[in-house]
Amino acid sequence: MLIFRKKHIPSNFAFLRTDVHSHLIPGIDDGAKTLDDALNLVKTLYALGYRHLITTPHVMADLYPNTPADIQDGLARLRQAVQNANMDIAIDAAAEYYIDEYFAALIEYGQLMTLPGNRVLVEMSTLNAPSHLFNDLFRLQTKGYQPVLAHPERYTFLKDDFRQYARLKDYGCEFQLNLLSLTGYYGKPVRDTAFKLLKQGMINWLGSDMHHEHHATSLKALAEDKHLMTLITKYEFQNTSCKPEALSQAE
Ligand SMILES: [Fe+2]
Repeated sequence: MLIFRKKHIPSNFAFLRTDVHSHLIPGIDDGAKTLDDALNLVKTLYALGYRHLITTPHVMADLYPNTPADIQDGLARLRQAVQNANMDIAIDAAAEYYIDEYFAALIEYGQLMTLPGNRVLVEMSTLNAPSHLFNDLFRLQTKGYQPVLAHPERYTFLKDDFRQYARLKDYGCEFQLNLLSLTGYYGKPVRDTAFKLLKQGMINWLGSDMHHEHHATSLKALAEDKHLMTLITKYEFQNTSCKPEALSQAE
């Protein structure tokens, strides 16, 4: 007798365990404004099954010139608040670097805040590619860093010529998709591109890119969407390979 088992469809993101993109450190970018905001966002991510967050404040010369020291200070405050709230969730920090004209100097002389495996999360203008994009990607790799492009689906100039994605991959870029792109949160064209990238197996990482309560509400709705959760769980993502910094150091 044949027994058909119904595939379990998760209703949270525990299967990923680690989130690699968020803006939870209060007051240093356009994410959480206060420690209370940050704590509420962490609570949502915890309730959604995450047990390790690598938060990634913007580093952008004009708007958010955050240094590693700024980020580490904010991280220490956030960790303390989370500990005081008795939440069993590990929090580390990297950054989301905007590829502007100052980024090359940061690669050369700065100390970059990285995701595991010396990975550097980068973003750029959603309207047009910086002329030095491929130079900077190359420069990162010659310095021993692995570039990870944040939300590739959101760059409108790329989706019009899909071969550009393959070119970025050929240049050694990994891709991190924003979960909310799949819901249409950023509009239909972004959603269509997100589906296409996912179905072509081009996505290495998933991220919440959590900034505020609207994102938290939309992420909860996504977790309840069986169709989308079924789709996501068809693929493997590198989130599952991440360990909290404290555990890696203890090994
Ligand atoms: Fe971001």
